[in-house]
Amino acid sequence: MLTYEMASVEATQALAARLGEVVQAGDVLCLSGDLGAGKTTFTQGLARGLGVEEPVSSPTFTIIKEYDDGRIPLYHMDIYRLGEAAVHEDLGYDEYFYGAGVSVIEWSEYLEDLLPEDRLLAHITIAEGGGRHLVFTATGPRATARLKELEQLCPTSH
Ligand SMILES: Nc1ncnc2c1ncn2[C@@H]1O[C@H](COP(=O)(O)OP(=O)(O)OP(=O)(O)O)[C@@H](O)[C@H]1O
Ligand SMILES: [Mg+2]
Repeated sequence: MLTYEMASVEATQALAARLGEVVQAGDVLCLSGDLGAGKTTFTQGLARGLGVEEPVSSPTFTIIKEYDDGRIPLYHMDIYRLGEAAVHEDLGYDEYFYGAGVSVIEWSEYLEDLLPEDRLLAHITIAEGGGRHLVFTATGPRATARLKELEQLCPTSH
């Protein structure tokens, strides 16, 4: 487990950008947290770390948006609109999860059983005072390795 406090949008995106520098093809990052917690904001920073130039917006109505101009492809998914129906819609999730890029999934809780076992979870909450609190959890060796790399780049006081 690795935790961070982000006082500003810039701080959130700077942390996410460092993660974007180390992610590898086949990595899956699940972002959870309330509406407005900062999941899309975090994804924008991660995209910057990958070198994606195209602006990253919320893919709520497209569900999956692919960005191909970075170091590796970014598959940005937002499952919110599908909700409980997500597990019944065959959107070819595995093509993304096990593909040539990194998958970043907002509202991944709706996909639970379809997610790869080895994944990185980032749970964002709004802290008192308006900053953001982020807890990373890894569920396998791949995700654990990525957390170690991030911790080296962004040491935390916790
Ligand atoms: N430290 C911070 N980190 C991230 N966002 C912040 C921070 N402080 C304030 N914000 C604001 O919080 C909002 C986060 O919105 P964002 O769209 O990223 O949330 P989301 O989790 O993707 O929501 P949704 O579930 O609707 O997709 C933005 O308006 C952003 O400016
Ligand atoms: Mg969002």
